[in-house]
Amino acid sequence: MDISRRRFTAGALLLATGALTAAAHAAQKTAKPYRETEAQRRLTSRLGIRHPIVQAVFGGSTPELAAAVAEAGALGGMGMSWSSEAEVRAAVQRARALTQKPFAIGYVMQFGAGTLQAALDAGAPVIQFSFGIPDAAQVAAIRKAGAKFGVQIGNVRGAQLAVAAGADYLNVQGQEAGGHVQAQGSWRDRLPEVIAVAGDVPVLVAGGLATGADLRDVLALGAAGGVFGTRFVATEEYPAHPAYKARLVKSRAGDTALTVCFDLEWPAALHRVLRNDTLEAWEAGGALARGLRPNENDVVGRLGELAFKRYSIFPPFAPTTGHPEDMAMYAGIGVERIRDTPKAGELVARLWKECVGGSGSISRPTRLSLPGAGIGVRFDFAADAIIAARALTREFEPDPISRPDPISRRWWQAGRA
Ligand SMILES: Cc1cc2nc3c(=O)[nH]c(=O)nc-3n(C[C@H](O)[C@H](O)[C@H](O)COP(=O)(O)O)c2cc1C
Repeated sequence: MDISRRRFTAGALLLATGALTAAAHAAQKTAKPYRETEAQRRLTSRLGIRHPIVQAVFGGSTPELAAAVAEAGALGGMGMSWSSEAEVRAAVQRARALTQKPFAIGYVMQFGAGTLQAALDAGAPVIQFSFGIPDAAQVAAIRKAGAKFGVQIGNVRGAQLAVAAGADYLNVQGQEAGGHVQAQGSWRDRLPEVIAVAGDVPVLVAGGLATGADLRDVLALGAAGGVFGTRFVATEEYPAHPAYKARLVKSRAGDTALTVCFDLEWPAALHRVLRNDTLEAWEAGGALARGLRPNENDVVGRLGELAFKRYSIFPPFAPTTGHPEDMAMYAGIGVERIRDTPKAGELVARLWKECVGGSGSISRPTRLSLPGAGIGVRFDFAADAIIAARALTREFEPDPISRPDPISRRWWQAGRA
């Protein structure tokens, strides 16, 4: 094995095993009482929503999900990074037909925001970015359309850049989060500093929230609201495969891993998933880089004529056949407080009732280890992490920057159908 390959293997192992050192702070026994805060009022009035609850904008979200969340008084949304202009236009128009209330369209900036104008032209009221900051032209287009925008960031530098760009709100993500993770630690360590640099820009917390008590907890810590991702995957409206939803309602935090295992179309991108046979065989085999991974060419899922390989980033949607449980099943550490798959609107009502009413089990503060520590790279900004990770894999991936391709577009489309 050459040196660069060993370097990557060591790094990948650290990433995989550094997921969650849950031995942590003592459990928080009693939740703080609910009290409406100024930050929360700024958020809800700025976005025109009733409750300080935001559904994370992940791929595969349907207009029906976004509208149900919006109708219930929270901010719903759809991730559109992998969609064509026509698909974006149709999704925004459908959501607007279902609700008069605001909803968000999400872009992962690693993949650009090429359909932003189409989303704005169709009337998208809120745009949500992650893994990057919109440029001046994109911000100008958003302002011209009278829309608002938020940015998900992982640290203070990201917050400074997003505020300088004029963001209407920030999501400070922590490694507690399910799905793709740009944070380098727990949001608990970042929140006070991010709030300090944000000034009057509302700051929401993203990562590991699953109940109204979690929301009350973050509001008491000074956040303006909470972002819920995994919790909304486990709803009737989100078209996840039943096997994925079944794992969500019975898993514990320790059943998740922060890893780079499922990175076929997005090389070296960190993500938190439920542990499964693919992940465990990869770890057991030394967490090797692409080209060296066990059963790499297996097709584990089929959707119509589309075939998904074992290490694909794509999660299993409802119509997937084959071995959906071997695919990437994204989940945050709050998964252990998810025990059902309600309608999205009922979930919003429940979260709010628990928040103000003082019920719901509260998250235990966890101490997360720093993936990448020890592999000699500087992790002080999300972009650095991505660049460093790419540098480690360069020998194996001549063109590591993945772009949306027709296959993945058709896949998301099929998942939404
Ligand atoms: C199924 C799923 C897919 C996700 N994909 C992305 C993504 O592609 N890009 C991104 O910035 N965040 C992604 N996320 C993370 C969310 O933006 C958000 O930070 C996260 O869901 C919050 O943590 P939670 O899932 O524990 O609630 C994803 C989350 C989930 C659950």
